[in-house]
Amino acid sequence: MRCADLEPGLAALAAGGSLRQRRVLAGAQGVRVEIDGRAMLSFASNDYLGLAAHPEIAAAACAAAQTYGVGAGASHLLSGHHALHDALETRFAAMVGAPAALLFSTGYMANLGVVTALLGRHDALFADKLNHASLVDAARLSGADHQRYHHNDMADLARRLAASTAPTKLIAVDAVFSMDGDTAPLAELLALAERYDAWLLQDDAHGFGVLSLAERGVTAMPERLLYLATFGKAAGVAGAAVAGSANAVAWLVNRARTYIYTTAQPPLLAAATLKSLDLIAQADDRRAHLRALIAHLQQRLAGLPWRLMPSVTPIQPLLVGDNATAVRLSQALAERGIWLPAIRPPTVPEGTARLRISLSAAHGFDGLDALADALWGLAT
Ligand SMILES: Cc1ncc(COP(=O)(O)O)c(C=O)c1O
Repeated sequence: MRCADLEPGLAALAAGGSLRQRRVLAGAQGVRVEIDGRAMLSFASNDYLGLAAHPEIAAAACAAAQTYGVGAGASHLLSGHHALHDALETRFAAMVGAPAALLFSTGYMANLGVVTALLGRHDALFADKLNHASLVDAARLSGADHQRYHHNDMADLARRLAASTAPTKLIAVDAVFSMDGDTAPLAELLALAERYDAWLLQDDAHGFGVLSLAERGVTAMPERLLYLATFGKAAGVAGAAVAGSANAVAWLVNRARTYIYTTAQPPLLAAATLKSLDLIAQADDRRAHLRALIAHLQQRLAGLPWRLMPSVTPIQPLLVGDNATAVRLSQALAERGIWLPAIRPPTVPEGTARLRISLSAAHGFDGLDALADALWGLAT
């Protein structure tokens, strides 16, 4: 992109209905938010358990800042690896039944780090077509053969694995697909990983805290499984951790460049995440409420001209199709005080623009009714 091409490039994005613009959030993240100075009911965060502004998590962060300051001061391998980071890794590994875990500053960096640590250009990455952008970028950065199989199509994946002569194979998959809300068949993926001697990287950014491992088809933690959770969504904080065998984690410490060549996250975030893990462990009531909200939404939106995509998770996308209609609906909802941005290509495939309704345990049934009434009003 040359300097002179920027203005026409932005104009072309606007003409195609795909210019992205940020809105400014004031106050805390939650379901009742202030956006660009207006009070809105939001269906647009990944704060699935409603923990992002939880007072106990905020208190844990403040207490850690008072005691340890803010900056980590160095990368983990220099002098930045704090006891709080270490405690979080140990706690997270125990929680997901793995021998060890490694903390990264973001999920994006974790995916880049894991994939590039395990694969080189003679190797192969097998990826679901709907995987998150960070896994796509990880594949590109590794230089490995990037085999993208049809969404959740195990026969396609098996064919590709059987045909591959790559010395190291890695299957990477979103456990819950971020823009569709459906889940990957993890037991089948694991069986294929066993059969073809491949790693399985399970990116559970949207399932961690919301679904249990057993609910997704994995009950034990085999050595070839790497389980990744992010802490910026249901956990309500920031960062990510990868759980696996002690050897796998030791390898990542030595080879994951996004772990090695960056300043460690502020220890206060690890303190906040430790508190969040306590709350997640006790959040059965929040998860039950979420399930009730999902059922209520599905019942209220049945029969609309736009259909809800099949999903048992708090991600309930309403498929609209073309960009212009998705943007028009989103704007009309905003005029009614409802914040539900349109998701358009390239985030989702062409012709599948949607309103990604994201539910939180902090929503009430009245909020869902307000959304449903507004959508029905726009449909008629
Ligand atoms: C499936 C998936 N993986 C990874 C990430 C990146 O995580 P983070 O936001 O912590 O960088 C996201 C979203 O942000 C995601 O949806």
